[in-house]
This record gives sequence, structure tokens and C-alpha cells, in this order.
Amino acid sequence: MSEQNSSAAAQDDIVRIEHVSNSYYENQLGIFGKRKKNQVLRDVSLTIHRDEFFGLVGESGCGKSTLANCILGMVPFEGTIEVAGMSYGKANRKEFTRHVQAVFQDPLSALDPRRRIGEILREPLDIHGIGTKEEREAKVKEMLETVGLDASYATRFPRELSGGQRQRVCIGASLMLEPELVIADEAISALDVSVGAQILNLFRKIHDEKDFAMLFISHNLNVVYYLCDRIAVLYYGEIMEQGGAKEIYDNPAHPYTRILQAAIPDLKPGKEKKEMAFVEAKNARPWVEGACPFYRRCPRALDECKKAPPLTNIAKEGEPEHLVRCWRHS
Ligand SMILES: Nc1ncnc2c1ncn2[C@@H]1O[C@H](COP(=O)(O)OP(=O)(O)OP(=O)(O)O)[C@@H](O)[C@H]1O
Ligand SMILES: [Mg+2]
Repeated sequence: MSEQNSSAAAQDDIVRIEHVSNSYYENQLGIFGKRKKNQVLRDVSLTIHRDEFFGLVGESGCGKSTLANCILGMVPFEGTIEVAGMSYGKANRKEFTRHVQAVFQDPLSALDPRRRIGEILREPLDIHGIGTKEEREAKVKEMLETVGLDASYATRFPRELSGGQRQRVCIGASLMLEPELVIADEAISALDVSVGAQILNLFRKIHDEKDFAMLFISHNLNVVYYLCDRIAVLYYGEIMEQGGAKEIYDNPAHPYTRILQAAIPDLKPGKEKKEMAFVEAKNARPWVEGACPFYRRCPRALDECKKAPPLTNIAKEGEPEHLVRCWRHS
């Protein structure tokens, strides 16, 4: 890549995550009076392009929310994270929040119960001193419309809304400052299936209409495939596979992704899935230091997997990047 091209590519990357690791110490003291250190994220690197819908998928406990919290500056980490060219720091906290906003799983706890919806939506503009009073009111009205609520909702309290309507308010609040990145962490998991589907469609519609990148976090590969341009599959704090959403869904190359994919009921009749399943817990292989993180549960593991594989691009020349961390990828 020429220097000019590489700087053009860098400008198109709104999030740059480089070699990020995160650990926490257990509360209880161990046998030698020391707290045990547990690593959650292991050397995670990825970039999210401007205006891209990026999906992060993986089973519960693999570190998805921890990565989101690292990006939001809510937990300490090693490595580098930049959003819109900025690293989070105490001094630039206010400026940073203009660029990065988040929508979480539980809309009720995210909304101040004592404030009316209009005030909640207006608050970011008040804090950042954006626009006149009239302009702020107009923007609140416009945002209610954007998220599919009529103007009368401005005077209601969060308890007077359904779960889906509250999540619409949270999405609206996240967009008031016109951020460059919105993180949605399991944003439909607490909703029933039909309401969740409506919220997914809302995310897609708003993303089509406005300019921002989305980091959509879910344990459901199907949902991520439906929404996203690119996907990263996280397992035990490491990226196992990353690439175009369609490519990964149709041709998963890592055994872990294939298991996630096989767990989805087949919506395309006639297309046979190669069944794959985790090695049962009772047959799981003993932990080997330095092995592939998936070694214990992988149905395809061989002796060579006792050495950790690198994340390798398996795309054919000229095709978009498809990264896989597996010696035995298919
Ligand atoms: N400060 C902490 N104290 C205790 N455990 C922690 C801490 N931080 C992270 N963990 C653990 O790290 C692991 C990853 O947590 P994280 O919330 O990132 O997972 P997740 O992929 O978001 O899971 P889920 O899909 O259930 O939301 C979990 O096992 C969690 O219990
Ligand atoms: Mg989580």
C-alpha cells in the first residue's frame, strides 16, 4: 500500500483497536494471600470503518461487553484504542462522548426514572451547549420521529413506556450528539422476539439514513449476519474469525464459527449444513499452556493445535480480508 493509500485507509477507520488486553483480579484472596488475575481479552486488534455496521459475536462470557467497555473508557486495558483519532482520557472525557455513544441491554435502568423523555433526549445537547433552546426542542421532536415515537412521548416518563419504546428512546438519546460510533451491546436481548425484530429494523433504517459506524454486539450469529457488513467472532477473549458477514455466515472457516452457525435453525432449505458440535464437557481435553484457546472443546483438534495459531488471512487474492485463527481451517 502506498503512503497516500494507507493514510486514506486510516482516515476511513473510525475505530482502531490495537493489541488490547484486559484482566481483572478476583475479590477473594488465594492460598498465598494474593488475588488471582484473570485475563478477559487477549491481544485483540480490529478496525471499524467509517459508516460500517460491524458485528461482534460470541458466547456468553467471551469478553464482548468488556471490549465495549474498553472502547467506552469504562475499564482499564493494555494496548491502544482510538475512536475518531482520539484516545479516551480524563481530560477529554466530554469531547470523547461526542464521538462514542452506547445502547445497552436494559433500557429501563439506562433511563432516569424521574425525567421526562423530552428532557432525557435534550440532556446531551444541554451538557454540550449545542443549539438554542428552540433548536434543542426541535431536535428532540425530530429524534422522536426518527425512532418511531410521536411528539407526545416527550412529556412521558420512562415507566409509562413499553420495553421496546424505551429502547427506542435509548437509541434516540445515543444519536443526539451525532456520534461517529454507536455501540449496541445486546440491545435486543431483553425484548420479546417481535419487538426485538422491530428494533433491529430500526437500527438498520437509522444507520442507512445517518452517518455513523455501529458496533453491534450479540451472541446470535443470525442477528449479526442480518445487520452487519463485517463480523468478528470472539472466543475466550480472542478473535477467532473476522471478515465479511455474508462470507462468514455462508462459509465459516473456524470450527467455533461453524458450531455457532450449526446452532441456527436452517432458514435456507436445500442447503445442507455440515454438523459440528463442541467436544462434550466430560471429554474436553486437558488445558495445555500455549495451545489454541479452542483446543479443549474443538471437534477437529489435533496435536498441532497445542501450539496457538496466528490470525491468518485466507481470502483469495483480490477478495476482501477473511481472517481465521486455526491450523485446520476449512
Ligand atoms: N471486574 C470483574 N470481576 C469479575 N469478573 C469479571 C470482571 N470483568 C470481567 N469479568 C468476567 O469476564 C468474562 C467476560 O465478561 P463479559 O461481560 O465481557 O462477557 P460477554 O461476552 O459480554 O458475555 P454476555 O454475552 O453474557 O454478556 C466473564 O466471565 C466475566 O464474569
Ligand atoms: Mg455482555
